[in-house]
Amino acid sequence: MLIPVILSGGSGTRLWPVSRKSYPKQFCALLGQETPFQETIQRVRRLGLECEPVLVGNREHRFIIAEQLRQIGVEDVDIILEPIARNSAAAMAAVAFWQLQRDEEALLWFMPADAVIEDHEALGMALEQACEVAEDDYVVTFGIRPTRIETGYGYIRQGQLLSGKENAYHVARFLEKPDIQKAEEMVADGQHLWNSGMFVARARVFLEELKKYEPSIYEAVFWAVKKASVDHGFIQLDEEAFACAPPISVDYAVAERTDRAVVVPSIFRWMDVGSWDSVWELTPKDRDGNAVRGNVFLDRVRNCYVNSDGVVATVTGVDDLIIIVTRDAVMVSHRERAQDIKHMVSRLLDEG
Ligand code: GDD
Ligand code: MG
Repeated sequence: MLIPVILSGGSGTRLWPVSRKSYPKQFCALLGQETPFQETIQRVRRLGLECEPVLVGNREHRFIIAEQLRQIGVEDVDIILEPIARNSAAAMAAVAFWQLQRDEEALLWFMPADAVIEDHEALGMALEQACEVAEDDYVVTFGIRPTRIETGYGYIRQGQLLSGKENAYHVARFLEKPDIQKAEEMVADGQHLWNSGMFVARARVFLEELKKYEPSIYEAVFWAVKKASVDHGFIQLDEEAFACAPPISVDYAVAERTDRAVVVPSIFRWMDVGSWDSVWELTPKDRDGNAVRGNVFLDRVRNCYVNSDGVVATVTGVDDLIIIVTRDAVMVSHRERAQDIKHMVSRLLDEG
């Protein structure tokens, strides 16, 4: 049985100042009425899988998680809480160890809570292919054909076709978040796919690979799950043990290093709502290419995204900007530099 797992503990710094550490982007309705977290749950439920999703997120967000689940009428799901953020490899390991206690051959479908996927049929088909391969002890990724040069994603070079399969290839190389020059080369050569951020693997296989490449994450999370307590329906990982896990994303910890990686090239329409330029892309625009949300007035403005929460924002005579106004912070950036907000926010946090 396939168990969907939603990774909901990221901090979403590229969508600052709407996304905050205490209230990150996956819980913010940036596009429609529902939040990306809620949409992800609904998407999984629409596929009609036997098993309800398992959620893994930060303890600090437990009430937001509970409230957002209540809003969409979801109850009785397993919610694993991390006492401290240790990035996605540790979060995934926690779910894998937890499920392994119940079923030694558990098959997991890990997914981020910040993607938009359209075309359910294509998603269902890719998932079926991925499961078939993952049952043979591979770690399966979903490859998306690149449409622009992007440094915020992982890139997968497609290798040999897996014997006996139609649409599953060995991963010749996985490169996470390349610099701009490398990204340009990889998009131009036509042989690379973007990593969608979703993985299908048996819990056992994922943990074997993690143990091989990041034994200290494996060890720390093993104990954090062993000593976990269940409290008001939340599974609380042991803080002292979990804190010992180095904070590394699954992409660097496992995907770039494992030789059991397989890619299923996928044709569903996929977007990561990771930065303000992708929010601009996904929001309906006026005829000058502007997308707005909230209390906004524009004059002679083109290709901008302006989002103002409460305060009236007036913008005139500019092109290609992102302007975000919240109660206590304003952020202005060129649309093409939207990825850099991450560095600015970390400087801001470092400098206090
Ligand atoms: N539970 C938990 N705990 N979840 C986490 C943590 C954590 O400490 N850190 C991140 N996540 C969740 C995020 O909430 C998100 O849903 C998912 O893991 C991926 O994290 P991101 O921080 O959004 O990763 P990314 O977008 O930079 O890169 C990943 O996704 C890209 C596609 O969107 C990589 O897998 C790339 O290779 C991929 O191209
Ligand atoms: Mg992301």
